[in-house]
Amino acid sequence: MSATLFDVGYEITQMLEADLPAVVELEEMTGLSRWGYEAYKIELFYNPMSIMRVARGLTERSRVLGFVASRVTFDELHINNIAVHPDFRRIRIASELLKTVIRQSYSYGSRRCLLEVRASNEPAQCLYRKLGFRVIGRRRDYYTQPTEDALVMQLIY
Ligand SMILES: CC(C)(COP(=O)(O)OP(=O)(O)OC[C@H]1O[C@@H](n2cnc3c(N)ncnc32)[C@H](O)[C@@H]1OP(=O)(O)O)[C@@H](O)C(=O)NCCC(=O)NCCS
Repeated sequence: MSATLFDVGYEITQMLEADLPAVVELEEMTGLSRWGYEAYKIELFYNPMSIMRVARGLTERSRVLGFVASRVTFDELHINNIAVHPDFRRIRIASELLKTVIRQSYSYGSRRCLLEVRASNEPAQCLYRKLGFRVIGRRRDYYTQPTEDALVMQLIY
C-alpha cells in the first residue's frame, strides 16, 4: 500500500557512497536512463559542482526513498536523474529534493535549472510544471530503449 504524507517521516541529506546500491536499484526500478554505480560514484567524489541528495526515511534503517543527481555548470543547474520509490510517491518527496538542490545551486551562482524529460512522461512533466518549469525546446530521438524525443524544460530563479 502506498504511504501518505502523515505516516512517512523523511529528511533530505547528502548522498553517501553507502547509498549508491539503493540509488542504482531505484534507477533500475523506475526506468530512468541508466547511469549505474560507477557513474554516480565518480560524480560524488570527483565533481565538486555535483549536488547529490537522497530522501532518507526516518525509520526502516534510513532507507533511501528517493534521490536526485544534479550538477552546476557555470550559471546553470542540470538535473541528471531524479526518482522516488513507487511506494512513496505523491507526498512531495521529489518536490522537496528539487527545491533543495535548486537552493544549493543558487549559492554556487546558478540562476537557472535545465532538464530533459521523455515526451511521454506526464507525471514528471506535471511535477516540473508545478514547480514553475516551462518547456523551451524538444530534442528529437534523444532517448533510446525506447527511442523517444526529450522535452527540454527550464526554470529561471
Ligand atoms: C516523477 C516522480 C519523480 C515524482 O515524484 P513524487 O515524489 O511522487 O512527486 P511529488 O509528490 O513531489 O509531486 C508533486 C506534484 O507533481 C505532480 N505529479 C507527481 N506525480 C504525478 C502523477 N503520477 N500524475 C500527475 N501529476 C503528478 C502533481 O502535481 C504533484 O502534486 P499533487 O500530488 O499535489 O497533485 C516519480 O513519479 C518518479 O520517480 N517517476 C519515475 C522516475 C522519473 O520519471 N523521473 C523523472 C525523469 S525526467
